[in-house]
Amino acid sequence: MSRVALVTGGTRGIGAAIAVGLKNCGYKVAANYAGNDEAAAKFKAQTGIPVFKWNVGDAAACAAGIKDVEGALGPIDILVNNAGVTKDAMLHKMSTEQWDDVIRIDLGSMFYMTRPLIDGMRERNFGRIINISSINGQKGQMGQANYSAAKAGIIGFTKALAQETAKKGITVNVICPGYIDTEMVQAVPEKVLQGIIATIPVGRLGKADEIAKMTCFLAGDDAAFITGATMTVNGAQYIAG
Ligand SMILES: NC(=O)c1ccc[n+]([C@@H]2O[C@H](COP(=O)([O-])OP(=O)(O)OC[C@H]3O[C@@H](n4cnc5c(N)ncnc54)[C@H](OP(=O)(O)O)[C@@H]3O)[C@@H](O)[C@H]2O)c1
Repeated sequence: MSRVALVTGGTRGIGAAIAVGLKNCGYKVAANYAGNDEAAAKFKAQTGIPVFKWNVGDAAACAAGIKDVEGALGPIDILVNNAGVTKDAMLHKMSTEQWDDVIRIDLGSMFYMTRPLIDGMRERNFGRIINISSINGQKGQMGQANYSAAKAGIIGFTKALAQETAKKGITVNVICPGYIDTEMVQAVPEKVLQGIIATIPVGRLGKADEIAKMTCFLAGDDAAFITGATMTVNGAQYIAG
């Protein structure tokens, strides 16, 4: 029986590449999304991967959504907490709403998504939880106090849960992508983008598929001894100690 994987924010960008990568590795995959029905329908038509709409920043919606996915595909063995948003502003101009939204969607979702799944993984003595953080959670980024705090929080969450679940065959790891060539990054003005690329020693943006490849490796049996790890995939733009 194929293992079942759920990718949040799995219909666009990095999440879509991860969902397709996991499918190509032989898993039964479900992709969650927030509200862009058109992109989700296109993704489903192109890949055959079923899509499920809910807001990962809403605990009750996560519990209900997980129930729907498990009803359709079976118990979830692999959870990729990928969905995330940015609401950038310098702190002296940041609203409470910008702070709360990013903390709830990017960090709160770690708990809202993982809590309903952890009992089943513990009972079955198997689980893979792969959380997508960011280079900016490692180094901090001007204008992103909310995002940097949430993404740094994901690293702490991962390290704690890895210790709690290690004896139950569940691994918990975090991937910190650098700048990846997604729609979000393509929207950056060309001059600014060239400035960013100049700070990446490898000399280019990362590819979503490179994050997918790392995710597939962490999901597999060969990665059973890797847990609590922070995998940096950023072309040496920032080398964490
Ligand atoms: N792109 C980069 O360079 C980069 C670098 C470092 C880290 N990251 C992280 O990697 C992850 C993916 O980034 P991306 O650039 O691929 O994002 P993206 O292109 O903006 O795609 C976002 C995906 O997440 C979904 N989503 C957004 N908010 C959601 C919510 N509240 N509930 C459920 N789904 C939601 C979107 O659904 P809809 O289509 O319905 O909106 C979409 O499927 C994020 O956590 C991001 O912080 C990205």
